[in-house]
Amino acid sequence: MLRLIVMRDKMELIAARLNRINPSPTMAITAKARAMKAAGKDIISLSAGEPDFDTPEHIKRAAIAAIKSGETKYTDVGGTAALRQAVARKFLRDSGIAYSPEEVIVSTGGKQVIFNAMLATVDAGDEVIIPTPCWVSYPDIVALAEGTPVFVPCSQNSGFKLRAEDLEAAITPKTKWVFLNSPNNPTGAAYSAEELRPICDVLLRHPDVWVFTDDIYEKLTYDGFRPATIVEVEPGLRDRTVTMNGCSKAYAMTGWRIGFCGAPVKLIKAMDKLQGQSTSNPSSISQAAALAALNGPEDGIAEMVRVYKQRRDLVVEMLNQARGITCGRPEGAFYVFPAMHGCIGKRSPKGAKITDDEAFVIALLDEQGVAAVHGSAFIYPGHFRISYATSTELLKEACERIQVFCGALR
Ligand SMILES: Cc1ncc(COP(=O)(O)O)c(C=O)c1O
Repeated sequence: MLRLIVMRDKMELIAARLNRINPSPTMAITAKARAMKAAGKDIISLSAGEPDFDTPEHIKRAAIAAIKSGETKYTDVGGTAALRQAVARKFLRDSGIAYSPEEVIVSTGGKQVIFNAMLATVDAGDEVIIPTPCWVSYPDIVALAEGTPVFVPCSQNSGFKLRAEDLEAAITPKTKWVFLNSPNNPTGAAYSAEELRPICDVLLRHPDVWVFTDDIYEKLTYDGFRPATIVEVEPGLRDRTVTMNGCSKAYAMTGWRIGFCGAPVKLIKAMDKLQGQSTSNPSSISQAAALAALNGPEDGIAEMVRVYKQRRDLVVEMLNQARGITCGRPEGAFYVFPAMHGCIGKRSPKGAKITDDEAFVIALLDEQGVAAVHGSAFIYPGHFRISYATSTELLKEACERIQVFCGALR
């Protein structure tokens, strides 16, 4: 008995698998900025990846009605039949892809869709191709599933888009998945149908490789750009593609936690099995809200897009006026991903040495009170991400502070 107690004392509490992952760097910066604000500092946070708009009224009303009518119980694990039908209709309406409700699962945010898909399919040593810059969570979710992330850098010169030849070169017999994310977090880059065609051609040559396309920013594109999704461009990939989307960004519903996907039934069943033993169904009330979002009017989105476009143009223009910074004009999402190579090696007025992108964002936060996220968090050093999902006045003020900060580097 005594021996057992001693052994337990020595046992490590935290499982080894946790050592494979990192806390979200975007959340870390946001938390630091929030703490500085709480301490009375004048902080403008451009680090969070969520719309500053409120959830539209008709969606909130549907949630309130659900509470009042007793839609407050467990639902089917993968979502109510009505919501899965609405998701299927959404894919047909927006992308011309016919998924049946059995080919759809609804989860607690887009993040859980990714988590379910990777945990359900990736075995130790399987490779997952992740074009970079990439959303911070892909590598960690893959690592948690014991997979090996294989990063394929996409250069600023090619608009941060994956080149077919780079994809071809990265595929090995161990490749299980390729991630695509359009419009992209952190770059805002989005693929047209023509741009996806050569990628489809590579994938057609590798029939064992699955594709996970994260289209969560689909509704947020500017200047009439129409983003395409891979199955729409090449229906021949339908049987090995997950088409993921969700309510978080399009309907300003980050807190409601609703994401979904269309995929072959075999995979949906596996994801359902995993979800059934973890979180079960997403919140019944959020599902009622999502139903209203998917079936409801989209003029609220058009208004958000109009405002985001103005902000994007303002931020791109002002950042390009900052010394040492160059910023492209992306097609979508609510991010820009400027290069800061021209600032490296310099020193800030308070003496911080700008050795890299991380030192840059820390000094910017400490000295000018502007929170941005360093490019290395997205596996792409030499850049930083600005989220322009905040008021135009604050954006203007933040960009002025960035200009002052960069201008004062020596
Ligand atoms: C590219 C991308 N995919 C997925 C998600 C996760 O979305 P959700 O809040 O629905 O889990 C995010 C959120 O920031 C994202 O940027």
